[in-house]
Amino acid sequence: MTPQLSSWWRNAAIYQVYPRSFQDTNGDGEGDLRGVISQLDYLKSLGIDAIWLSPFYTSPNNDGGYDVANPRDVDPRFGTLSDAEELIRAAHSKGLKIIVDIVPNHFSTEHEWFKEALANPPGSQARSRFHFYDGRGESGEIPPNNWCSIFGGPAWSRVTESDGTPGQWYLHLFDSTQADLNWENSDVHEDFEKTLRFWLDKGVDGFRIDVAHGLAKEEILKDHRDPEGLTRALRLDVSDMPRDERESLLSDVPFFDREGVHEIYRQWRKVFDSYSGERMSVAEAWVHPSSRATRYVRSDELHQIFNFDFLIAEWNAEFLRSAIDKTLNEVSEVQAPPTWVLCNHDSPRLVSRLGGGDLGAKKARAMALLTHALPGGIYIYQGEELGLEDANLPDEVRQDPVFFRTKGADKGRDGARVPIPWRADDENFGFTTGKPWLPMPRQWSDMAVDSQTQESGSFLHLYRKSLSIRAKHPALKQKNSIDVSSEISWIPTQAGVLAFERKPGFTLIANCNDFSCDVEISGEILLASQPGVTQKDGVTTLPAHTTCWINTSH
Ligand code: NOJ
Ligand code: CA
Repeated sequence: MTPQLSSWWRNAAIYQVYPRSFQDTNGDGEGDLRGVISQLDYLKSLGIDAIWLSPFYTSPNNDGGYDVANPRDVDPRFGTLSDAEELIRAAHSKGLKIIVDIVPNHFSTEHEWFKEALANPPGSQARSRFHFYDGRGESGEIPPNNWCSIFGGPAWSRVTESDGTPGQWYLHLFDSTQADLNWENSDVHEDFEKTLRFWLDKGVDGFRIDVAHGLAKEEILKDHRDPEGLTRALRLDVSDMPRDERESLLSDVPFFDREGVHEIYRQWRKVFDSYSGERMSVAEAWVHPSSRATRYVRSDELHQIFNFDFLIAEWNAEFLRSAIDKTLNEVSEVQAPPTWVLCNHDSPRLVSRLGGGDLGAKKARAMALLTHALPGGIYIYQGEELGLEDANLPDEVRQDPVFFRTKGADKGRDGARVPIPWRADDENFGFTTGKPWLPMPRQWSDMAVDSQTQESGSFLHLYRKSLSIRAKHPALKQKNSIDVSSEISWIPTQAGVLAFERKPGFTLIANCNDFSCDVEISGEILLASQPGVTQKDGVTTLPAHTTCWINTSH
């Protein structure tokens, strides 16, 4: 299959909305779909191409809606199905595409299938949609294997049979209320195809596929040699784990990145391609080594895969350069476009990860300009454009199952999910007239959208400018090259500085050092992440931790 090199998603800027924390319109303290509709002008003003909405489907919301009880309806906390339809229509009328989440690894235990499974005996068709097994030990009291949940604790829970006796166990790689689906069962395939078509018929432009590498499982009845080590490695909690050990654990995970997942995506691709309008898909798949990621974006499978290299990257020139080269070379092999992700609802916010405070903010701005100048698609998580930091939350308000399942050892992801501050002077910064579902830091006035709109040096202005230049500059806007690795040419410079050229007429310089640097490149400065970039006699001087974009066409 020849790739359509002009497809919109190949270099789109896609903005992730976490609906629960975006904008509330009915005063219940939680964001909703009408809130997203009410902020479409703001989203449009950022210069993005598409919005990815985290789940808003019927759900008990034990894992932020990634515990789906009905994938073809809207949870009342978010509104109604007609709100979703209106959102799709309204976004399209403003020229914005809509991508929705699909969660195929598990269903909530509130899904009717799970209830049916409980009401039916072991060995029944209803149970075979999930992974139900008898336990080991004399009375089945030991789980079928020793796997751990990625959220902490065991990966199995035992059910009570309808006669009141302790019964079989079911597998859950995440929370105990997220039962893993058995993709060897044809009902599962049919139901997901129905869900894809349901939303495609409503006009969505694509899907973000949750845990895309997890659907096929192998050796389910075999113990793992080090289940706790494996979970730590998967959660990147590896500071005290020897590298060799980590590599060895990650290179063979019995429930991730198995060959069987690819056949599923080949089928899904046929569904996407049967619709007009370049519908796309992006895989959330943490695979190891990263070269295996390209297998998900072969021309008859998915369109994009999140590249998480930058999600965990420090502001370090050597690391960043090697991550860029590696990514571009890998995806070029399958003629897919790369993607770049700086943060999302599962990870610390960028400014916090880079150390927080003024220095963290400086590095984050520089990192954003580096990212926005790369070929391929970029993903921006709500609030990233405001330079928000993670909120310090008291434990009593935390809601993430990770916090509970690790007994507080891991604080979880709530700090990055605090609602968006819209207006500095309004109650709850204009997010809600009620009580926000997570408290919003008092000191966020200067971070609010209206404050930043007034302030020409703000994060928000930087994002608006960079996205606008990215969309217009001939070197950055849509390219039709099959080989993205040829799209950037590195320029040799001193240690700690990155410089590359993109043709025609664009050069980026990033100074990752904590001192200013002179670089022998000059031209019209299009944008800089900090004030203070100067030029003299063909030399550009960049302050510490600064990226600048230079027009070199003349
Ligand atoms: C990845 C999602 O992004 C995350 O929020 C969720 O907890 C897990 N998948 C499980 O669905
Ligand atoms: Ca609401």
